Amino acid sequence: MAYLTVTDGVKQFTGFRALNGVSISVERGEFFTLLGPSGCGKTTLLRAIAGFNDLTSGSIMLDGQDLRAIPPHKRDIGMVFQDYAVFPHLSVFDNVAFGLKPRKVPAEQIKTRVAEALSAVHLQALAERLPAAMSGGQQQRIGLARAMVINPRLLLMDEPLSNLDAKLRIELREEIRDIQKRVDIATIYVTHDQEEALAISDRICVMSAGHIEQIGTPQEIYGNPQTLFVANFVGTLNTLADGEGRAKLLAELGISANAAHWTIRPERLSLLEAGQGAPSGAVALAGTISKFTYLGREAHVLVDTPAGALVVQVSNPALGAVRTPGEAVSVLVERSALMAFDADSKRLSLEG
Ligand SMILES: Nc1ncnc2c1ncn2[C@@H]1O[C@H](COP(=O)(O)OP(=O)(O)OP(=O)(O)O)[C@@H](O)[C@H]1O
Ligand SMILES: [Mg+2]
Repeated sequence: MAYLTVTDGVKQFTGFRALNGVSISVERGEFFTLLGPSGCGKTTLLRAIAGFNDLTSGSIMLDGQDLRAIPPHKRDIGMVFQDYAVFPHLSVFDNVAFGLKPRKVPAEQIKTRVAEALSAVHLQALAERLPAAMSGGQQQRIGLARAMVINPRLLLMDEPLSNLDAKLRIELREEIRDIQKRVDIATIYVTHDQEEALAISDRICVMSAGHIEQIGTPQEIYGNPQTLFVANFVGTLNTLADGEGRAKLLAELGISANAAHWTIRPERLSLLEAGQGAPSGAVALAGTISKFTYLGREAHVLVDTPAGALVVQVSNPALGAVRTPGEAVSVLVERSALMAFDADSKRLSLEG
């Protein structure tokens, strides 16, 4: 039995169904991420677990207990929000101690527990400061310490990094991951940033329009997407244009399956010189470069081919490796790199 389960969760707002039968299960100590575009229902699901809004139907069980029957302040759930929600007139220490006040914790214990929480987020030296004079990253650490100090049974985080700049976001996500593993509290983390989700999670739940598309490890979600939505949302995707060029390519690769959508990730393609042959299990597709975009650690080369315009990702492009529009090249397409989806966008197996 999983530690937390949501079964058939439905949330009906007036005139809008935000959750349409959502089921998840989270293990003890697991870092579980809800990933999906704006409006797909991530916050609604998190708020239902926290108790800020109740489900219309469905069950939420935490450690064998029916959470829907327990008022929010008695659920022992810590929550971190997107906006830092710190009290500007209280010191860092008092901000963190705030969550313990209604719990009637003795003063001595408050001292040690707040000190522990502050040290976990590396803020012990700033305990007496006022948050107003602190950076966004530091303020978000206060939020994290305040959520953890109550020794919650579950930690919920709703886009905690989205107000921070890109560099700090990466630093703090590594820290959050380390802290979570150290304190070992089951955590549900919400983001719409796919790279963040891949970096931080034990498992990812990809949501779209109030339902779940796929749940899996970062490797499963990225490397083995089960729907076209997941493949498109997590990573980038080339779609082969429907037509003779595609039919010929599939035939040359020995693929006879019928599919509505044929896709391939840019990093699974590579460039060959024009006329260069392909090893077995692959095809060299003749094409013409139409665009070259240098991005530092990679470059994207857009190539017009008989199977449509394809982006080829080149890793660690050398300084001299600039490609010019109009240049003739070949694109190496390996059979194993193709992903096929049916008309309902479900993944098709290409075995055999
Ligand atoms: N109180 C409400 N009444 C009506 N509709 C609502 C209410 N709260 C949320 N919604 C709708 O439910 C849908 C899901 O909202 P939710 O806040 O869960 O999305 P989200 O995935 O967290 O998006 P974001 O990434 O933008 O935060 C949205 O279309 C939203 O407009
Ligand atoms: Mg939200």
